[in-house]
Amino acid sequence: MQPVKIAEGVYDVGVNDWNSRNFHGYSINMGTSYNAYLVIDEKIALIDTVKKEFAAQLIENISKIIDPKKIDYIISNHTEMDHSGGLPRILHKIGENKPLFCSKMGLKNLSMHFPQNWNYQAVEDGEELSLGEKILTFIEAKMLHWPDSMFTYLKKEKILFSSDAFGQHYAGYEKFDDIIGDAIMPHAKKYFANILLLYSPLILKIIERIASLGLEINIICPDHGIIWRKDPSKIIEAYIRWSKQETKNKAVIIYDTMWHSTEIMAEAIASGINSAGVEVRPMHLRKCHRSDVMTEVVDSRAVIVGSPTLNNGLFPTVSDLLTYMKGLKPKDKIGAAFGSYGWSGESVKLINKELEAMKFEIIDPGLKIQYVPDKEGLEMCFQFGKKIGTAIIG
Ligand code: FEO
Repeated sequence: MQPVKIAEGVYDVGVNDWNSRNFHGYSINMGTSYNAYLVIDEKIALIDTVKKEFAAQLIENISKIIDPKKIDYIISNHTEMDHSGGLPRILHKIGENKPLFCSKMGLKNLSMHFPQNWNYQAVEDGEELSLGEKILTFIEAKMLHWPDSMFTYLKKEKILFSSDAFGQHYAGYEKFDDIIGDAIMPHAKKYFANILLLYSPLILKIIERIASLGLEINIICPDHGIIWRKDPSKIIEAYIRWSKQETKNKAVIIYDTMWHSTEIMAEAIASGINSAGVEVRPMHLRKCHRSDVMTEVVDSRAVIVGSPTLNNGLFPTVSDLLTYMKGLKPKDKIGAAFGSYGWSGESVKLINKELEAMKFEIIDPGLKIQYVPDKEGLEMCFQFGKKIGTAIIG
């Protein structure tokens, strides 16, 4: 990728990772990018680096603009290795004594990843660093999404370097929102659903805090995906909506099936939900990745989970999904369980226990059908769905 000019003296020198398809358990179908930003004035700063494997490309990109040895400062907004993995190589290139600015937690975390004797400089929230006419301000963004996370704000240009926040796993030459348009929003939503959802209350506080500081934002430069320059408020408003966990009249039915009986139940339940005028999306867990399921969960009012009973327990994919979903802390959902069984039939009870642990409103004890649903069973599924649909409409 060629460096991308963002403003006078500000460039994205990051890289595209076209063929990555899994990001610590989250499926990414369009690869990703590791963005790193060069800010040039009397002094030159590099904000974040890239994954270790792409460090040579980062140096090559920087070299197209300046001699990398001219970099005076490195700023690490976040320790995770997709942004810090390139530090050893870049510091080796520019000189290991160059100051490396990070948050206080960043100092702790970076030192644990890189115990080298680097010139770490921990900054306070609100501290400024002058590059000449360009002034950088550091803003604490704890738990968005690591304890060390911070933002860096370029004052005059009103550019927010937002680390992982407002990012998307997307590799492409279309580096700006005005070029890609709304096609980027599903990627931004999936990123939020799978990485940030559990920090929703903190995200709202950080957004409120930035507003209270009176920081105007013309451009948001995240560490993944496209840069928001046409309408940064669009992604900020989406984050507020997703963090508030606002939902639509929509249900997602998440299930696995052994001999298709639970699948037949899922489809009859979907018809019942839809008969109440509610959007519904059945998702088979061996055909839909858990990260795609979570993306649908974010704006669904109801989450219906189905599993056959296997060895007195849940189907393994359903257990996996419930564990994953519980960790991401979706809120204020209607929940219900269903499943086919042979002789013991524990699955509904076990699903309900997990949905209760997530504080979902369980609106029905659940529906279980032995072996294969007959005509009467299918009607029960339809009515079960209709009851859920009616509850969603309220
Ligand atoms: Fe993109 Fe939390 O690292």
